[in-house]
Amino acid sequence: MARIVVNADQGAQRIDKNVYGHFAEHLGRCIYEGIWVGEHSRIPNTRGIRNDVVEALRRIKVPVLRWPGGCFADEYHWRDGVGPRAERPSMINTHWGGVTENNQFGTHEFLDLCAMIGAEPYICGNVGSGTVQEMQQWVEYVTFDGASPMADLRRQNGRDEPWELPYFGVGNENWGCGGNMRPDYYADLYRRYQTYVRNLGGNRVSRIACGPNRDDYHWTEVLMREAGRYMDGLSLHYYTVPGPSRQARGSATDFGEEEWFTTLRKCLHMDELIRRHATIMDRYDPEKRVALLVDEWGTWYDVEPGTNPAFLYQQNTLRDALVAGLTLNIFNNHCDRVRMANIAQLVNVLQALILTDGAAMVTTPTYHVFDLYKPHQNAVLLPCVLESDRYDVDGQHIPQISVSASRDSSECIHLTLCNVDPHREADVRCELRGVAPREVMGSVLTAKDMRAHNTFQDPGRVAPVPFDAVSFNRERLAVTLPPMSVVALRAGR
Ligand code: AHR
Repeated sequence: MARIVVNADQGAQRIDKNVYGHFAEHLGRCIYEGIWVGEHSRIPNTRGIRNDVVEALRRIKVPVLRWPGGCFADEYHWRDGVGPRAERPSMINTHWGGVTENNQFGTHEFLDLCAMIGAEPYICGNVGSGTVQEMQQWVEYVTFDGASPMADLRRQNGRDEPWELPYFGVGNENWGCGGNMRPDYYADLYRRYQTYVRNLGGNRVSRIACGPNRDDYHWTEVLMREAGRYMDGLSLHYYTVPGPSRQARGSATDFGEEEWFTTLRKCLHMDELIRRHATIMDRYDPEKRVALLVDEWGTWYDVEPGTNPAFLYQQNTLRDALVAGLTLNIFNNHCDRVRMANIAQLVNVLQALILTDGAAMVTTPTYHVFDLYKPHQNAVLLPCVLESDRYDVDGQHIPQISVSASRDSSECIHLTLCNVDPHREADVRCELRGVAPREVMGSVLTAKDMRAHNTFQDPGRVAPVPFDAVSFNRERLAVTLPPMSVVALRAGR
């Protein structure tokens, strides 16, 4: 029996909607095929962007989209991706398979996509191989409303009005693919580059510094000490990899209980990472002005057999749904510092929400978790106390359930719960302290098999269904979570 106390009449901090953000890189079939098919494609599209993908993304209310990378960002030169498409130069995408990048999807197409799906743009600039001038001019091109060389070029390329650009990343993984820099060196470069990421006209841009890889606390220490006052956000990257090495990350679909457990245990490591990085940030920024952005996270397995190893295409099972549910609960519960997160990646890459094959499209179990959790966007976090049983495997254990709760602007309470145990139901006694709901409704995502996933032939195998294993009496709820499930409850007053 688990016990949860939700302090439903309290709550001070808002869960930033951007915690439900996404990431699309020029990598494998994410941008090309997954999003961009071109205006002359037989696949239904609007100005070259797939209609089916746009429709699916609108449904989950994508708040923010990070682009163009990833490692690709530090070798991307934005001028190659504007102007008449037939005249755009090509480049080699050296990070991701050495394929030719023809730059058909560039700044205008990205910002058009953001407008179509209702997302705010988060552009990541090139520090590794780009110049300060190039970065400065990109911001001017996108945001300046007066007469200037870059704003005039934008007009010449068909866009009169500037766009709003609320987030700009100053490099990506500059400790690795973005230039193999040491933290002191990057901190200085960050200070220099960000100076020229200017607020032009009415645009107000938040500057995001490249943050640590996983548990590199030294990186956070140096960045906060040397450059904290020049940044609005610091990014953190952490991937859940069940296997022991890059050569053996584990299969996306062919796994047993041991790997199920390892994956979920490793995903829960996110909580410790946030706590420890946030502790360092608190020392330099006790007011929590600087946000921690987990702008790459998700599962990373061996690629689907028979696919290009550099394209990072993997299937997505019920296990990925649990990873998403657990991780999003962690982010919600740290909403005082974590104010954006971007799962990697949107389509056809790593823990994707959407998979495509030619004209066919399927949504993954991870997609459904984002759909179930969307009421948390911009809602007030409700502090919870959880007493959970343990889920034990081979002498190791993790909590059997996870929870987060929020109150939306219409005073409805939202609870999202995960039961990670593949064998046992979880009986939960939940007290909504201070609130007696008039109705409680829910949805559940589960399956009989932990490896269950959606395919183009069977797209609805893992999909939410109404949840009725809940009863309530005034402030008390009794809930039975099925084994390996994600449940979203809405308690209305
Ligand atoms: O998401 C795939 C890659 O993972 C990104 O390009 C890079 O930033 C990270 O290492």
